[in-house]
Amino acid sequence: MRGPVIKQFPIAWRRFLGTYHAIAGQASRLSLTLHSRLAARLFPAASRLLNRALLTRKAAGCSASANLLLTIFTALVFLAVPISRAAGLPPVFSPGAVWPDTGGQSINAHGGGILFHDGTYYWYGEFKSGKTILPDCNKSWGGTRVDVVGVSCYSSTNLYDWKNEGIVLPAVPGDPQSDLYPGKVLERPKVIYNHATRQFIMWMHIDSADYAAARAGVAVSQLPTGPFKYLGSFRPNAGVGSEDDAVSARITSPTSRPALDPPDGQMSRDLTVFADDDGQAYLFYSSEGNPTMHVSRLSADYLHADGPYRRLFIGRSMEAPVVFKHAGRYYLIASGCSAWAPNAARSAVADSIMGPWTELGNPCLGPDATNTFHSQGTCVFAVAGRDDLLIFMADRWDQWNLPDSRYIWLPLEFSPGGKPVLRWQDHWSLNIRNAISPAARGHRVVETVNTHVNIQKRIEFHRLMHPPKLPETRESAPCQSAGLGDIIPA
Ligand code: DGJ
Repeated sequence: MRGPVIKQFPIAWRRFLGTYHAIAGQASRLSLTLHSRLAARLFPAASRLLNRALLTRKAAGCSASANLLLTIFTALVFLAVPISRAAGLPPVFSPGAVWPDTGGQSINAHGGGILFHDGTYYWYGEFKSGKTILPDCNKSWGGTRVDVVGVSCYSSTNLYDWKNEGIVLPAVPGDPQSDLYPGKVLERPKVIYNHATRQFIMWMHIDSADYAAARAGVAVSQLPTGPFKYLGSFRPNAGVGSEDDAVSARITSPTSRPALDPPDGQMSRDLTVFADDDGQAYLFYSSEGNPTMHVSRLSADYLHADGPYRRLFIGRSMEAPVVFKHAGRYYLIASGCSAWAPNAARSAVADSIMGPWTELGNPCLGPDATNTFHSQGTCVFAVAGRDDLLIFMADRWDQWNLPDSRYIWLPLEFSPGGKPVLRWQDHWSLNIRNAISPAARGHRVVETVNTHVNIQKRIEFHRLMHPPKLPETRESAPCQSAGLGDIIPA
């Protein structure tokens, strides 16, 4: 039975699987606990077999019976989820999978960060919904976008089950001049708690649709669950020379620029905030058009970044900064600059947060280490009560369907030499022990953690199911006016 009808099978099969995934996604939303231990055991084997079958079928052509068998097999895989949930077994993290909240909806908190406060974790992030478009002004670099809806917040006491606390900082649709106008950009919200003022402070990247404005925004709330009051945006450190201007002046790299001191402040795109044990907080932001990162002290109330500041990683073009402290030292993980496309992460360490920082290279190991396992970091946080577990949190962006971007959570390890290490895990749980080895905690060396699982097949499967979508086929739209003067795009 070969010929034109059979030639349609791959498309029919893809359509079938697309429908299956949609149904399975809906079904999964009905459950409060998506990934039980049983599912973790069943799914890797099942998906490996399915992937192999699909790839074999793709290479060798297919028959009706093979497709029927695969259909039955797929149905069995589908049934494994409710069975495992019904068993009520402990959950696991499944990086890259749809992650429903306790109400059954996919968690929608991208470019996010975690705050632990009074026994509860709060996950803040960009709420992305609606159609993904490519504005004309961003065509050259693939800067797709969705309109800003606001910053979402989820709460959890166990890190698996997240309750939707709603939009804690909403967009302002009625005012095109507002930083929070849907046609602008609000990215990478991070919240820290100020013990002195008892306020929750949110910092975020605010921008015009063409990313020319390059500003840092700040909002404040009395409660972790908002509502946050937006205070405004600015470019940090206006009129404040960097502490290391003298050093900068000696830099001769063609990709670096001398420290600029524009009257309206330093450009600020991707950012993060870090509150140290002594209560002093810091803002890290990609600056000078992105080639150079800055670290700036925040004021005591955490609401202003008016220095002093230092220029870091000059000419290294790092964004998506993630900063954390471990065993008395400061660590940074960041990406390169390639819009939504993943690239190799970099890591760095410092004894003083203001530097000097020493680069330690790519923390990722194994297949897909060169693209951070198809993701871009956004936060590292400590699991409460555990000195052996830090969690690295990243976004697996879907450039052409941004609301369907997924989350990658992985345990952060340290090499005996003290370098942060990330290894892929298909599934893992908080039962993991010694992700940070005793050696890296200053004790005896013991080797650790889950076995590495090759995800190449999964990615091939993902590519099969989600063929690349080309910009030309997508809707594009003119940019909104930034309304912020004649700022020159980087
Ligand atoms: C990379 C940044 O890290 C993201 O937050 C976002 O700004 C994209 N670029 C936009 O292309």
